[in-house]
Amino acid sequence: MKILVTGGAGFIGSNFIRYILSKYPDYKIINLDKLTYAGNLENLADLEKNKSYRFVKGDICDQKLVDQIVGEGIDVIINFAAESHVDRSLYDPKVFMQTNVLGTQTLMESALKHKIKRFVQISTDEVYGSLKEDESPFTEESFLITNSPYSASKACSDLLVRAYQRTFDLPAIITRCCNNYGPYQFPEKLISLFITNALDDQELPIYGDGLYIRDWIYVEDHCKAVDFVLHKGEVGEIYNISSNVEKTNLEITHLILDCLKKPSSLIKHVKDRPAHDRRYALSAEKIRKKLGWEPEVSFEQGMKLTIDWYIKNKDWWQKVKSKEYLKYYERHYIRREKL
Ligand code: NAD
Ligand code: TYD
Repeated sequence: MKILVTGGAGFIGSNFIRYILSKYPDYKIINLDKLTYAGNLENLADLEKNKSYRFVKGDICDQKLVDQIVGEGIDVIINFAAESHVDRSLYDPKVFMQTNVLGTQTLMESALKHKIKRFVQISTDEVYGSLKEDESPFTEESFLITNSPYSASKACSDLLVRAYQRTFDLPAIITRCCNNYGPYQFPEKLISLFITNALDDQELPIYGDGLYIRDWIYVEDHCKAVDFVLHKGEVGEIYNISSNVEKTNLEITHLILDCLKKPSSLIKHVKDRPAHDRRYALSAEKIRKKLGWEPEVSFEQGMKLTIDWYIKNKDWWQKVKSKEYLKYYERHYIRREKL
């Protein structure tokens, strides 16, 4: 099988490529990535000499380039490429629409032109909006009601994928996963930011009361679920992916501080994120029952693996932080005060 993975130099995409090539060494993967601030070739440095793997630097919005790659006999496209961070979408929404919506459309045009066999759109539970504490987890039937430019752009692309599947028979499937954590996550998301800040004895900025709830999955379990969908999923269907681990941000923060033996005085409550979704929780009954996927890593195991990885890979995240992160955070905090 020849797969075009987009956004493969990012967090989940790089974990996915490594997982697929170790499980199916005869598969070929082309990784198309623009190398934005979040893309990092060091995430896949171990695969540089692997003959089944090729990297192409480029934008998924570039129709000519995408056509050229898909025309090389690609069987399947898996679209991980995206602007992925809610906070960034608050001050620069346009690039979210460009990449997440128009980029997805560009890929689908090529997919139709070259009659590919499967198009897997990697989406998010954030398209369902926010749940109250006593509400049941979202299912694939839940309405799409978004609150941030990020989630709105992902919902737009999901609807466009559905439209291409229904109208033009694009063999598309959508996956919607909950919050991921694990190795190679850019240190701007809650868990990767707080582990690296704590290791550096820096403040951990908790938005609002810290009682916001997210549903967490270890990244390798997500990658395995996408593998199930790729091989067994039904065209036209949507599959939620979750391991049903609901935690408040403060619970996670204290777990990180306890593991690293750091004081809780590092916690700093800061101004809340605007339109902050209170709770995400996702039912994964469908993928479990219909495709037989099950998550394998408990939250405790996953957090231990993740914290150990950041301890051992200080070079990786220190380089990443010094390049982009400080520049961004300075701007971001100035802007947040104005919101
Ligand atoms: P990430 O930000 O770590 O990586 C995104 C990658 O896409 C980067 O390598 C970046 O360079 C690349 N990219 C961005 N714009 C591009 C463009 N125009 N053309 C080509 N490449 C481009 O993101 P992630 O956390 O790995 O998320 C991957 C996907 O999974 C996204 O679609 C995201 O919406 C979805 N998702 C993420 C989570 C999560 O918790 N991180 C949860 C559910 C779904
Ligand atoms: P994040 O990792 O940005 O993922 P998302 O908002 O897409 O779910 O944030 C997870 C939760 O952590 C969310 O409730 C916002 C909160 N948060 C903080 O309190 N402080 C931070 O510095 C960050 C990045 C997130």
